[in-house]
Amino acid sequence: MDPQVLIEVKGLEKSLQGRKVLKGVDLSIGEGEVFIVLGRSGVGKSVLLKNMVGLMRPDAGRVLYEGKDLVRASAEEWKRVRREFAVVFQHSALFDSLSVGENVAFGLRRMTSLSGEEIRQRVKEALSLVGLEGIEEARVSQLSGGMQKRVAIARAIALRPRVIFYDEPTTGLDPIMAATIAMLILKMKKEIGSTSFIITHDLKLAFRVGTTLAMLHDGRIVFRGTPEEFQGCRDPVVRKFVEGIPD
Ligand SMILES: Nc1ncnc2c1ncn2[C@@H]1O[C@H](COP(=O)(O)OP(=O)(O)OP(=O)(O)O)[C@@H](O)[C@H]1O
Ligand SMILES: [Mg+2]
Repeated sequence: MDPQVLIEVKGLEKSLQGRKVLKGVDLSIGEGEVFIVLGRSGVGKSVLLKNMVGLMRPDAGRVLYEGKDLVRASAEEWKRVRREFAVVFQHSALFDSLSVGENVAFGLRRMTSLSGEEIRQRVKEALSLVGLEGIEEARVSQLSGGMQKRVAIARAIALRPRVIFYDEPTTGLDPIMAATIAMLILKMKKEIGSTSFIITHDLKLAFRVGTTLAMLHDGRIVFRGTPEEFQGCRDPVVRKFVEGIPD
């Protein structure tokens, strides 16, 4: 295995409700990359992410993390991997009944042995990194969608993960907030050295932050390359997506 490769997906298949959503997905993600998977709504991007982080079990195929197959990993091995992975979900998935501070501290309390004071410090740092210092006491329901996204990112980075998975980090946000999130993703890469895996249909985001762009279509990766290669790709499926041509 190439020493720089951190995650490899090989022949991943998944059927849901009798429909084959993923028909053999192959991906290879290098350490330190901002890897983007693009694809139309409903193509199976969220399903792919869930299969990669252990929230769904593939019907076939492998997900290799540092060469180790996560699909067949033991609960003990997953425990270690979970500490190194963080997920920012499509709908933020914050707990409405908890304060912002408690939300950001959630994984730290569950997965680390940090003291109360250390956790408070980490929460403070994480919120400050996303530009939301001092809102620990606020309720999640009082926040705008953009703020909730940033809290979800703070919750992910508080764990200082090796890999951050983002599911549609900019969907539903205004262009300025989307640009802010894009800057944040780059900042996380720089400040905590995380590898990022982003699934989105936001082309602007992909070009702003991506080191590699891949396109998921009809259950498979039909293109993979640099942003420049993506831009210049003549494949009709890619062109249609880039130019927004209706069926
Ligand atoms: N838990 C589930 N049970 C059954 N079917 C599901 C489940 N999750 C997703 N699906 C189906 O799998 C397909 C792909 O869904 P998925 O959420 O991965 O799409 P997506 O590419 O993330 O779309 P979007 O861009 O709108 O978020 C859809 O047909 C969806 O109905
Ligand atoms: Mg989705």
